[in-house]
Amino acid sequence: MKKDILTLLDLSKEDFEIFFKRAFELKKNHNKRISGKLLAGKTLGLIFDKPSTRTRLSFEAAMVQLGGTSIFISAKDTQIARNEPVMDTARVLSRYLDCLAIRTFSQDLLNEFAEYAAIPVINALTDLYHPCQVLSDLLTVIEHKGTYKDLKIAWVGDGNNVAHSWINATAVLGLNLTLACPEGYYPDSRIVEKALERKCGKIMITSDPVEAAKDADVIYTDVWASMGQESEQTERKQVFKPFQVDKELVNKASKDVIVMHCLPAHRGEEISEEVLEGPNSVVWDQSENKLHMHKAVLEVLMA
Ligand code: CP
Ligand code: NVA
Repeated sequence: MKKDILTLLDLSKEDFEIFFKRAFELKKNHNKRISGKLLAGKTLGLIFDKPSTRTRLSFEAAMVQLGGTSIFISAKDTQIARNEPVMDTARVLSRYLDCLAIRTFSQDLLNEFAEYAAIPVINALTDLYHPCQVLSDLLTVIEHKGTYKDLKIAWVGDGNNVAHSWINATAVLGLNLTLACPEGYYPDSRIVEKALERKCGKIMITSDPVEAAKDADVIYTDVWASMGQESEQTERKQVFKPFQVDKELVNKASKDVIVMHCLPAHRGEEISEEVLEGPNSVVWDQSENKLHMHKAVLEVLMA
């Protein structure tokens, strides 16, 4: 049966472990310039309805380096933009491709694609989730901390799509996650409740960034206004001001805290230049690890 990655709740702990192990092997091979061609003859389609630098290029590079091919199309250039039903598009594309990565606004639209596609569908970001981001971020956590277990992970900022995927990861892996968000910008309560139902891991939500950062092993932040929220940018800049990840906040954390950001970053907003470029920042490793994790994901779904 085909496997989709629509949210991290689609994965078991064993799936995560398989991805971590394979991604680390692939990273080692990449650094030694060893390339396998496990995906020779396979084609990944990418349909994106929002901008992307890292996700698109790391998926495309991953396919090429694994011996396969990728085809990118902007959603605006497809017939979907002229109201062709998703259920028709999904069935047609399944006749051309071996896997489909989609970046769009609506999680429902993505789910509908997956329902009608005969091929695996990967969520490359929706308004609600960014599962592959957090999969590769966990690789970075393991790389720097040796494990994801028994770490205090602090999310500081908006309760957004990336935060939701951290919540889901917590429910599968049993993480210890504290989210500090301004009131009114907490994560979606339905997503939190669903995660809590699994009774795995610890999820704390506060409006005090210091409470989250205190003794944290990982501090993670993301933009204050996500793609699609551009009209709220000015208002959000005011509301989120006390949530900037700056030197003062980082000093509350454990002394070898790692600071993470999925990028693109807005220096001087959610993160200070000093912290982003400072010794605790692992953001470039994070970006690199998207390549290795996407390779692992593509291999598992397609090979
Ligand atoms: N982190 C991330 O998803 O970046 P892009 O929007 O550039 O793909
Ligand atoms: N929360 C951000 C993540 C970008 C990778 C957004 O959705 O725009």
